[in-house]
Amino acid sequence: MKFPYLFATRAVLRFQQSPFLLPVPALWTHPRSAALSTRLCKDDRSYYITTPIFYVNASPHLGHLYSAVLADCLHRYKLLQGFNSKFATGTDEHGLKIQQAAEAAGKDPMTFCTDVSKQFRHLFDSCNISYTDYIRTTEQRHHEAVEHFWSVLWNKGLIYKGSYEGWYSTQDESFLMPSQVGDALDSLGKEIKVSLESGHKVEWMKEENYMFRLSAFQSPLLDWLRGNPQVVQPDRFHQVVLKWLQEDLPDLSVSRQRSRLQWGIPVPGDDEQTIYVWVDALVNYLTVAGYPDKHNQWWHVARHVIGKDILKFHAIYWPAFLLGAGLPLPRVIHVHSHWTVGGKKMSKSLGNVVNPLDRSQIFTADGMRYFLLRQGVPDSDCDYTDNKVAKLLNAELADSLGGLLNRCTAPALNPAQVYPSFCSQSFPREQGGRAVGEDYLMLDAVKNLPAVVEKHYETMHVYKALEAINACVRLTNGFVQRHAPWKLDRKDSEDQRWLDTIIHISLECLRIYGTLLQPVVPETSNKLLSRLGVQPHERSSTALNFLPRYQGMDCPFEGRALGSDCGVLFSRLENQNADKQKPMKTKKSANFK
Ligand code: MSP
Repeated sequence: MKFPYLFATRAVLRFQQSPFLLPVPALWTHPRSAALSTRLCKDDRSYYITTPIFYVNASPHLGHLYSAVLADCLHRYKLLQGFNSKFATGTDEHGLKIQQAAEAAGKDPMTFCTDVSKQFRHLFDSCNISYTDYIRTTEQRHHEAVEHFWSVLWNKGLIYKGSYEGWYSTQDESFLMPSQVGDALDSLGKEIKVSLESGHKVEWMKEENYMFRLSAFQSPLLDWLRGNPQVVQPDRFHQVVLKWLQEDLPDLSVSRQRSRLQWGIPVPGDDEQTIYVWVDALVNYLTVAGYPDKHNQWWHVARHVIGKDILKFHAIYWPAFLLGAGLPLPRVIHVHSHWTVGGKKMSKSLGNVVNPLDRSQIFTADGMRYFLLRQGVPDSDCDYTDNKVAKLLNAELADSLGGLLNRCTAPALNPAQVYPSFCSQSFPREQGGRAVGEDYLMLDAVKNLPAVVEKHYETMHVYKALEAINACVRLTNGFVQRHAPWKLDRKDSEDQRWLDTIIHISLECLRIYGTLLQPVVPETSNKLLSRLGVQPHERSSTALNFLPRYQGMDCPFEGRALGSDCGVLFSRLENQNADKQKPMKTKKSANFK
């Protein structure tokens, strides 16, 4: 895929005052010290993950939910591992486009922001996004953090009064190089200039404002990226950032004239200027961590989940600001690609915006979470259709996983409704019992599954984790099918022991799948684990010891009563041709023997 948003070789910046007249801050002598310090605390159980904060100029769409679900999944996974995890999300409420959107809605900006911010919060609550902090950039705590951050940069001589002349996209709140701008026609057929990356209109801007000495950070940033090859993931985005940094890196305008932009935080000591919305927005991550006084516990373990469109802001501007302020850099920037609809970017004018709240009411919160994480590939864009959602959920959650649970807990096979016993004569460690070669392969696959899943969760390749879990669910279904326990003679004690063993193994498999799926589908996993009789304190990653009886150890579940039957695990979606956006009917999952 091409990345059109490369830096041009020529900046359109004209400085009125040379930045080189200012003292060079001490950090130049050891630019990597902040980054290196992040690696020292190996045993630290603190974890801090963020989503981008969402612009409130329009209602939430599917892409926003995707950013949030990815971060939520990592947060929940870390909690399972026993980490003390902080998870921040929220809304980005300042800037010209918000000011204009409020005007267009005929509301004062604060009321407008509150209304839309509530919509995001409602969506996230409905989809079980378990944030521990919801920040709004209009809050006082944030105002104070931004003012402090600005003053630190100013005191270090990294901000100077200059003038900016160049292209600006209000929609993207971004400055562009001439090479990033192209010609287009607006809806009235008038010639306009647009950003080649986003397609949004750009305007020529000429203003007195404050500049950040970004150019001086080119080589420290290159050192940081080269010294930390995993810092921007997936690697293809790391390479994109390296490429940008090898080109021109002009200083950055970090304020706007107050006469043009009133909806923002004034520059400390200069009421004629408003702080650039991206400086304001990025500092939210510090605000939540407790900046300026109490951020130490969290700040050195920060990781950001972002969409590819805001990579430059997070992987160049933000680390440069942080280096400037003498703060540690993020541990990882997890980048994801975009959701398209009909192969096109979602946009109001195309009428193809997918409302995630509607979709989560139709497909359930877990259904949407599962779909987004199973189909979303961080490396490349994915196309959304309702039909794909229905097919996937029916196949994997309703039929495969739900069917397996149904089979193994059906009163016909398990009249006592207990976790039955494992018989090592029926399934010995060496061949000789009633198990066949494929059964041993299945046990190996499930035993290795937690490590496979952990690796993929860590790198935010959740779709690979789900692929691996789903492959194991298929193997377990194959195991049950192969041995057809419903054909065994319950009156024959050997048959009965073998039947119990088949069910014991299958329930053990389900316990592992339910535990590993908690970060993705928390409600469904809870239902599954409760049905198996697994208590809340038995659901962490320390409980991922699969089939201890096969290893000759005790199994705490053996002989325990199953939890009560709470119906089908995940209801099938009847209408597979759902792209007309009609609500779907659900029906009970197919009943297996
Ligand atoms: N406010 C800034 C972020 C500031 S963070 C300090 C912003 N907001 S946004 O609302 O436009 O986007 C928020 C997130 O949604 C970004 O990660 C963006 O990539 C993501 N998405 C927006 N459209 C998307 C898709 N179509 N698909 C997937 N994610 C997309 O940028």
